[in-house]
Amino acid sequence: MNFKIAVIAGDGIGPEITDAAIHVLNAVGKKFWHSFKFKHVLMGGCAIDAAGVPLPKETVSACKRSDSVLLGAVGGPKWDGLPGNLRPEAGLLGIRKALNLFANIRPAVLYPALLGSCPLRADIAAKGINIIVVRELTGGIYFGKRGYKETGRNGREAFDTENYSETEIRRICKIGFEYAQSRKKVLHSIDKANVLESSRLWRKVVHEMAAEFPGVTVIDMLVDNAAMQLVKNPSQFDVIVTSNMFGDILSDEAAMITGSIGLLASSSLGAGKLGLYEPIHGSAPDIAGQNKANPIATILSCAMMLRTSLDLPKEADAVESAINKALSETKMRTADIAEPDSEIIGCHEMGALIASLI
Ligand code: IPM
Ligand code: MG
Repeated sequence: MNFKIAVIAGDGIGPEITDAAIHVLNAVGKKFWHSFKFKHVLMGGCAIDAAGVPLPKETVSACKRSDSVLLGAVGGPKWDGLPGNLRPEAGLLGIRKALNLFANIRPAVLYPALLGSCPLRADIAAKGINIIVVRELTGGIYFGKRGYKETGRNGREAFDTENYSETEIRRICKIGFEYAQSRKKVLHSIDKANVLESSRLWRKVVHEMAAEFPGVTVIDMLVDNAAMQLVKNPSQFDVIVTSNMFGDILSDEAAMITGSIGLLASSSLGAGKLGLYEPIHGSAPDIAGQNKANPIATILSCAMMLRTSLDLPKEADAVESAINKALSETKMRTADIAEPDSEIIGCHEMGALIASLI
């Protein structure tokens, strides 16, 4: 089969990690007789430099014409001083909105081979961590009305608004329920219903929906408590569904407690097959261009892409098992996940190792 994949390498370590991932996808193509056609397009800081905007129109149209999108990372100190709508991050928010990718799926898994990197107490880590954060991605405070006044009554003033419609809440919670149904049948819905009107609607809608998913237990949790529970007792969570901003924050926390931010993948999905797949870490400008980054999160994102957007489950399994083999049968590690007895290798070499194990 032939597949068209738009590649947004982006900034910082983005080009290195997407190169390594492409190396692995080419190995998959060779083994399983597929051809992947990669189209590199600009977004983020590199797009600002080349075209003056973080998300050129051609990027959006190339993504829409593709079977899926692979994204490295965007952003960096060079562009930090720009106004909000011209920052690299605006490109990311823009592409999510333009492709209507309302559901962000972020699995946080503690790999047995990496137990040593888990920052939690050993008895807590021993209970395991395997959480899927389902984050709403095209609504809420990220896209609500905002404003800035240079001369307010009490000096400068700014505001952002959190706004959710029933339709938006339903479509994201449906995905949460479906994941819960296919896993442990427990769905944690995270909100701030003791303060926010939008959270009270969220909670009402989730409970109305529960009737459509009879096997699934819904547990409401306030976001501050959830932040605490994630470090105190993460094994109580299986599937978490939450708003855009709470999901942003909790998914970083869920990632960090696994000790493997360089290993965690994500998908952003809409109503159709087209998805955007990216590692959950950022552009790491401090190590950019030094062949030090860990490409595994990006390669795992390709496994999610193969399974979800391209309907190639065998190929996805092959990628995941190659990663598992690399971690369990060799001592080769990128610096971020190295232990005292590791042989430290670079981003390119890790990509080549995993490709060779396909
Ligand atoms: C993420 C990132 C983005 C977000 C930033 C870079 C705009 O933190 O994908 O989690 O807040 O969504
Ligand atoms: Mg984030």
